[in-house]
Amino acid sequence: MSASDFRLFDGFRIALDEGSLVLRRLSRGHTASLIRFNAGLSSETKRLFSPHAYDPRTVADYARRSEDGVDLSYVAEDEAGEVVAYFFLWEVRSEAPLLGIGVADAYQNRGLGKELMRVLIESAKRLGRRGIDLTTMPDNERAFRLYLKCGFRYVGDVPNLTGDGRQVTERRLFLPLVEGTLPPQRDFGPPDQVDH
Ligand SMILES: CC(C)(COP(=O)(O)OP(=O)(O)OC[C@H]1O[C@@H](n2cnc3c(N)ncnc32)[C@H](O)[C@@H]1OP(=O)(O)O)[C@@H](O)C(=O)NCCC(=O)NCCS
Repeated sequence: MSASDFRLFDGFRIALDEGSLVLRRLSRGHTASLIRFNAGLSSETKRLFSPHAYDPRTVADYARRSEDGVDLSYVAEDEAGEVVAYFFLWEVRSEAPLLGIGVADAYQNRGLGKELMRVLIESAKRLGRRGIDLTTMPDNERAFRLYLKCGFRYVGDVPNLTGDGRQVTERRLFLPLVEGTLPPQRDFGPPDQVDH
């Protein structure tokens, strides 16, 4: 990834009804605030969004992956600099990166998820990727509908290893960015534990 690719959407502002958020590429400087973000999530949001463990070492490892351009990971910060959303394309150099998104409870259902999805899809397009892959819990209707609205299509059910160690069956959705691209063969789970 070139230096200008690294800056894709870094510093991008999103206006809310009250105030605004700023998007930042995840870096090791966010380690403490990302751990606070996860700790502040409701148990329901944690059940639905648990991409990886949140001990300081694992979070720093994911921040380093972002700094190195292995993943395209972002946080959205409020005006106090606190993380209120975490969203990413893992393995962003692959033909079809794996998308994840989590919004803090107080910011859900206000249109933010849709905006952040737009940022990830636009990022993948600008980088010339052929598609975007994701999985979601079978009862997560809100996320499922959001993904369908963004153009993703349901592919089937797949096994997934969650970041807190649960083996679950999830719905897989795929968005082709280049016509005719099919979902690749892969395993699902945190990249520090599963080889994509
Ligand atoms: C899923 C999530 C990312 C969506 O972000 P959000 O900011 O809450 O969603 P938005 O306000 O942008 O709504 C986007 C779309 O979701 C759908 N949606 C919103 N609320 C919904 C609800 N209660 N039921 C069903 N669909 C709903 C709608 O299609 C909506 O589009 P519309 O406003 O045009 O009708 C966010 O709620 C979240 O982080 N939830 C907990 C963690 C999670 O589920 N992460 C995804 C894991 S796969």
